[in-house]
Amino acid sequence: MCGIVGYIGDTQAADLLMEGLSRLEYRGYDSAGIAVLNGNGLDIRREVGKLRNLAKEVAVNAPKGLIGIGHTRWATHGRPTTTNAHPHTDTLGQLVVVHNGIFENYLEIKHELIKDGVIFLSDTDSEVLAHLVARSYTGDLRLAVQVALSRMHGSYAIAVLHQDHPDLLVAARNGCPLILGIGAEENFIASDIPAILNHTRQIIYLEDGDIAEVRQRSWSVFNLQGERQHRDQTTIEWSLVAAEKGGYDHFMLKEINEQPTTLAQTLGGRMGEEEGRVYVDEFGITDEQLRRIRQIVIVACGTSHYAGLVGEYYFEQLARIPTTVEYASEFRYRKPVVDGDTLIIGLSQSGETADTLAAIREANNLGGLTASILNVQGSAMSRETQGTLYMRVGPEIGVASTKAYTGTVASLLLVALHTAQVRGHVTADFVRETLGSLRQVPSWIEETLAEVGAIQDLAAMLHTFRNCLYLGRGVNYPTALEGALKLKELSYIHAEALPAGEMKHGPIALLDADFPVIAVATKSAVYDKTLSNLKEVAARDAVTIALGTRGDERLAEVVDRVIYVPETPEIISPLVNVVPLQLLAYYVATKKGCDVDQPRNLAKSVTVE
Ligand code: F6R
Repeated sequence: MCGIVGYIGDTQAADLLMEGLSRLEYRGYDSAGIAVLNGNGLDIRREVGKLRNLAKEVAVNAPKGLIGIGHTRWATHGRPTTTNAHPHTDTLGQLVVVHNGIFENYLEIKHELIKDGVIFLSDTDSEVLAHLVARSYTGDLRLAVQVALSRMHGSYAIAVLHQDHPDLLVAARNGCPLILGIGAEENFIASDIPAILNHTRQIIYLEDGDIAEVRQRSWSVFNLQGERQHRDQTTIEWSLVAAEKGGYDHFMLKEINEQPTTLAQTLGGRMGEEEGRVYVDEFGITDEQLRRIRQIVIVACGTSHYAGLVGEYYFEQLARIPTTVEYASEFRYRKPVVDGDTLIIGLSQSGETADTLAAIREANNLGGLTASILNVQGSAMSRETQGTLYMRVGPEIGVASTKAYTGTVASLLLVALHTAQVRGHVTADFVRETLGSLRQVPSWIEETLAEVGAIQDLAAMLHTFRNCLYLGRGVNYPTALEGALKLKELSYIHAEALPAGEMKHGPIALLDADFPVIAVATKSAVYDKTLSNLKEVAARDAVTIALGTRGDERLAEVVDRVIYVPETPEIISPLVNVVPLQLLAYYVATKKGCDVDQPRNLAKSVTVE
């Protein structure tokens, strides 16, 4: 989704803006632009496509000035064109705005402004704000932004620059991420930390409804009524190297390979093996509340949704609590049955996904207990839920989620174990044993990553197909769903997933030699049934590939190819089994020459509904 960077200080702004935007590329975008105040007025540069197009334009004749704002745009209103790219100006060209989010009532205000004689140059909702700020401006830029924003409904992070105020950046947020970066003799604004981490580790997270005035040596935050707000500074501990590729060809490959480490971080300090208990206090739901709840509803999108399906299995199997997993985008439109004894858990890597946030807000309005499992610290969802268990997997830059999936699944298992124990469904011995297995997950994943050669061979065979069917059962049905999602989003091969037993009820009609089938067939309670399903597939001439438990020779007799993973307890197996499917999707996509870190049409954090 769009990215914003702003700078005021004693260095040429254009250089810092371009560097900041390049660190936000992972968010997904289709055009980019910067505006710098150069002493005479605003120097604006905008280009469609990759940032390198803008960099070329800037390199020819760089805008000169010590204050500026920049933006990467992911088209929502209006096509990705230069005129729709940000920054947008008012009619006199005295001010510029950049905007991330959607102004839902922009058409109504646009018509009002057109009646007043304003001529619009773009199709965007964002341009409305530029004209509205200009109309409200009487010398005080923050006040003008405040008045303009009071007319707009929807989500936004914005930054505004006015030629009469070469010492001031105004920024505001409501529903979209925005931070201030505090430096020595310079200050920044940005959508996300990596954009400015090279220059400062002192961050202020703006909250919804905040308007900030940022100057070279000072900053202040106000609310939409103009009252001053107190905001704390946070020191960021991440290294920039942690947010960069670390020697791999792509962020995604780095992130897949990081999983032994990231899972150790997720689990670290939370496993009381000696006592036979789990420590998840940050989740924020008291033992008393956990005893009382009568149902759990998990709300999430995409990969987080599939992680939630594994969680459903955990909460039902271990804690015996009826659990459903909802597409967050559907949740609030179906009059959900929620009361004070319902626990609603939001799952989100970014913590900013608009649909999941809206579902959590709805759950809060209905009086449910809400908690979240997130990755990005200080993100909006953490402020809307009673507690947040952070998965602690570090910045995920590749657009396709990998380490956040395993981080979410492991976090769900910890919470489910704790809930089950509090409700008296599992003993300390069971918890101890499960934690003992969890502790081995990093080394099991290491072993799985070592199968890379076999996976590359498989990718070389698969990359020419146009369709692919994934099968799984039980706790590994979500693994099949996640494998299919990875393949389709990275390689653009049509891929679907089914519970293996469902295939014979219709979809089997699709199968022939051009329709390969990939099945998760590791040892489990449903292994024999999966094997029978695979025999049905093999009888239709489809190429059959299975993920199997090391040493399982029976499987090799039924299918064409087997990728082996170490033997793991069934409850743990989704954490290990997903890894070869992530790698497979990665290698099929790279074989096809696809942009794995930024697949077409996708954005890292989907902050519009
Ligand atoms: C797929 C993917 C998306 C996200 C989804 C939710 O690889 O990354 O499906 O999982 O957009 O994002 P978060 O977890 O940030 O709420």
